[in-house]
Amino acid sequence: MTFSSPDQSPAWRALSDLAAQSSSLNLTRLFETDPTRAERYSIEAAGLVVDYSKNLITDEILEQLIALAADTGLEERRDEMFAGTKINETENRSVLHVALRDKAENKYLVDGSDIMPLIQAELSRIKDFCDRIHSGHFTGYTGKPLNTVVNIGIGGSDLGPVMVTDALTPYGIEGRQTHFVSNVDGTHLIEVVNKIDPETALFVIASKTFTTQETMTNATSARDWFLDTGAEASDVAKHFIALSTNAEAVGKFGIDTANMFRFWDWVGGRYSLWSVIGMPIALQIGFENFTKLLAGAREMDSHFENEPLHANLPALLALIGIWHRNFLDIGAHAVLPYDQYLHRLPAYLQQADMESNGKSVTRKGNATSYATGPVIFGEPGTNGQHAFYQLIHQGTDVISADFIAPAISHNETGDHHRKLLANFLAQPEALMRGKPLEQVVAELSASGASDDEIERIAPHRKFPGNRPTTSILMKKLTPETLGALIAFYEHKIFCQGHIWGINSFDQWGVELGKILAKNILPELSDIGEEKPTAHQHDSSTSTLIDRINQIRKDADS
Ligand code: F6P
Repeated sequence: MTFSSPDQSPAWRALSDLAAQSSSLNLTRLFETDPTRAERYSIEAAGLVVDYSKNLITDEILEQLIALAADTGLEERRDEMFAGTKINETENRSVLHVALRDKAENKYLVDGSDIMPLIQAELSRIKDFCDRIHSGHFTGYTGKPLNTVVNIGIGGSDLGPVMVTDALTPYGIEGRQTHFVSNVDGTHLIEVVNKIDPETALFVIASKTFTTQETMTNATSARDWFLDTGAEASDVAKHFIALSTNAEAVGKFGIDTANMFRFWDWVGGRYSLWSVIGMPIALQIGFENFTKLLAGAREMDSHFENEPLHANLPALLALIGIWHRNFLDIGAHAVLPYDQYLHRLPAYLQQADMESNGKSVTRKGNATSYATGPVIFGEPGTNGQHAFYQLIHQGTDVISADFIAPAISHNETGDHHRKLLANFLAQPEALMRGKPLEQVVAELSASGASDDEIERIAPHRKFPGNRPTTSILMKKLTPETLGALIAFYEHKIFCQGHIWGINSFDQWGVELGKILAKNILPELSDIGEEKPTAHQHDSSTSTLIDRINQIRKDADS
C-alpha cells in the first residue's frame, strides 16, 4: 500500500469531501440529466451484465474511488495474489483458488514449485472417480450402485457445494441425489440417514483440517449408523471417501487414503469449492459440467486480471461498496437472487464476505480507524419482498442491494418468469424513485379520501427513495454463468479487503467460541446424569449450564 492506511490517502479525503455533499445526490435526477447513465454505468463480462447505474455515484466519485484503488496499490496486490505471493500473512500462505480453475498449461508457483501438476492430477482423480461411480463400476458393499451422496462438512466445506448443487439442479444426473449434513445438531444427520439406503450411500467427509468438531462428530456417527445397519468394518472403504489436506487424520479416521482427494493450504476453506471440495457437485451434475463451472470462473478471473480498473467489474463494484460503507455509512448489504435455484447464494456469500472482511485489525496489526465488511443477508425474490423489503424501502437505515436474475428460466411455466422478472426490475426502480409526499397526497385525494384521512395516512405511504442497488443479469443460470458470478463476488471481496488493509484470508474470529465450547462440553450432563454445579464462568453462563443439566438429569429420554 502506498499509504500506511487508506484513510491517509488524498483520494479518501476527496471522497470524504464528496460525501459531505452527498445529500444533494438524487438518483432520479441523475438519470434525467444524463440519458447515457445506464449505458455508461454497465459492464458485460463472462456472461454477466452488471448495471451499477442505480448507485449513488457520479463520474467524480468514481474517479476518486479509482484513485483510492491506485493509492492503495490494488492492482499490484491483485498481481501478487495471482503470482502466489503469501498474501495471507497471518497464516503464511499463498491464496491461489484462481489456479484451481485455470488452464493446465498455465503455471502457478508456491515456494518456487509449480502447483499446476498437482491440481491437474487431483482433477483427473475426480474425473476418474465420477466415471467409476456414474458407470456403476464403483459399487457399495452389496454390489449396488452408489446413487446417493451424503456430504458431511461445514462452512467452506459445505456452503459452496450446497449452493452450487442446488443452483445447478437442472443439470443433475437422473437418478442421483445429494444430501448435505453440516450442523452438529444430531437432527441434521438423523433426518438425512432416515431417508437413505446404506447400501447405495456414499459418505463424503469434507474437511480441510479433518479436525473440525462438527464434521468429525457427524462423520463418526454416520460411520456408526452405517455399521449398525449391518455392514462390516471392512465395508467402510466402499462407502466413505475424504476430501482434505490432512492425510494423517484421514488415515486415523479409518478412510483408505486411496479414497482421499487432496487439496492444499493455499486454498482457503471458503474459496474451496473449485478444489476436490467440489466432488459432491461433480458427482451430482457430472464432471463435464463441473469443468464448465470452473471455466465460467476462469473467464471472470481473466477479466479481473486484465481489465483496467474503470472497466473491471469486481474492482468497480468493490469500490462502490467502499463508497457505501465508508462514506455513506451503509452497514448492511442485501443479496437478492430472483431465481429459486440460487436460494442458498446469500448464505454462501455470508461466509465468503463476512468471514473474509469481518475484521477490525489491519494487516500490520493496528486497529482500523474506519468501518470494514458490512452485514450480508438475503433471500430469493420474491419471498424477501413479503418479509424484510419493508425495512429496505422505509426503514431508518439505508441498505444497499444486489438484484440477480436470469432472463430465461429453466422452468418457463406459464407467465411465472415474466412475473418474477417484473419484480426484479420493479424493486430497484421503486427503491430509486421512492414516492414523495405530494404524490401520495394527490393519489389519496384522487381516490376520494377525506382531508383528515389524508393527513393521517399520507406520511406512512411515502417512500424516501434514492436507495442504491445493482442489477446483475445473465441469460440463463448455467454452470458457466454461476462460476462467473461466484468468482465476481470472490474478487470483489478481495478488492475490498485489500483497500481496507485487512487480511481477507484468515478467520481468527471463529476460534474463541470453539475453544470455550470445548471447555463447556464436559460440564454438560447426559440425559439422566447428575453433574456438579461448580463452574468457572460468569453467573449467566453458569446458571444456564445448571438449568440445562437439571432439565437433562430429570428427563427420561
Ligand atoms: O469456522 C471456520 C472454518 O475454519 C471455516 O473457515 C471453514 O470453512 C470451516 O471452519 C470448516 O473447516 P474444515 O474444512 O477444516 O472442516
